[in-house]
Amino acid sequence: MNELQISPFIDKRIEDYCVKNVSEEPEDLVTLNRKTQLRFVHPHMISGNWQGTFLRMISKMINPKTILEIGTFSGYSTICLAEGLQKGGIIHTIEKEVEYEDFLLENLGHHSDKNIKLHIGKALDILPTIEEEFDLIFIDADKASYPEYYNICIEKLRPSGIIIADNILWYGKVGLDPMPRDKQTLAINDFNELITHDPRVENVIIPIRDGLMMGRKL
Ligand SMILES: C[S@@+](CC[C@H](N)C(=O)[O-])C[C@H]1O[C@@H](n2cnc3c(N)ncnc32)[C@H](O)[C@@H]1O
Repeated sequence: MNELQISPFIDKRIEDYCVKNVSEEPEDLVTLNRKTQLRFVHPHMISGNWQGTFLRMISKMINPKTILEIGTFSGYSTICLAEGLQKGGIIHTIEKEVEYEDFLLENLGHHSDKNIKLHIGKALDILPTIEEEFDLIFIDADKASYPEYYNICIEKLRPSGIIIADNILWYGKVGLDPMPRDKQTLAINDFNELITHDPRVENVIIPIRDGLMMGRKL
């Protein structure tokens, strides 16, 4: 399936080449991708096969017992991340939109071999209620809250655990705009600085799509 280019700062030809040279999208995710395009007003929010493959591979490398995801949307990245779970492991995923609940329960329900716990509500309300330590955390919700999510999540991440945040290049606005004014760009700048200057973490930007920040807690 064609993926919308959301990283205009990367040469479209290079991006097309990357998208072409990635493992084939598994059948269940092809179906979920199609359903997402039909059902949602902003289907481009889906991770898609390029980023999804990266998330799945990272999760398989870590083989986590516990995963936290903030921003479920249609569940695509949830399923990718869940692929790496240990037997008996669990992924907690948080989505604020109550209208997505039925779609998510149906489609995540097709993966009943994985322990996927869906929380409907605002992440800042839900996070304090989940008392787990996490091996892997993926942040992919409202950008203005990224610094707050980081400060909460870093405390919930186990030593040597991995934290990944999406959209940290924000359509090229971070870094390129010398005087950003919108709250999303300002917050993502803050998030990128927070993690980069946090002595508890080593971090690197991976410019897949709109940019992933990956950090490893020391
Ligand atoms: C970019 S989409 C997530 C895409 C998904 N992770 C994927 O890769 O397919 C962001 C999602 O975060 C949700 N969201 C926004 N603000 C939120 C909040 N305060 N708490 C929880 N979810 C939120 C949105 O409703 C949306 O579904």
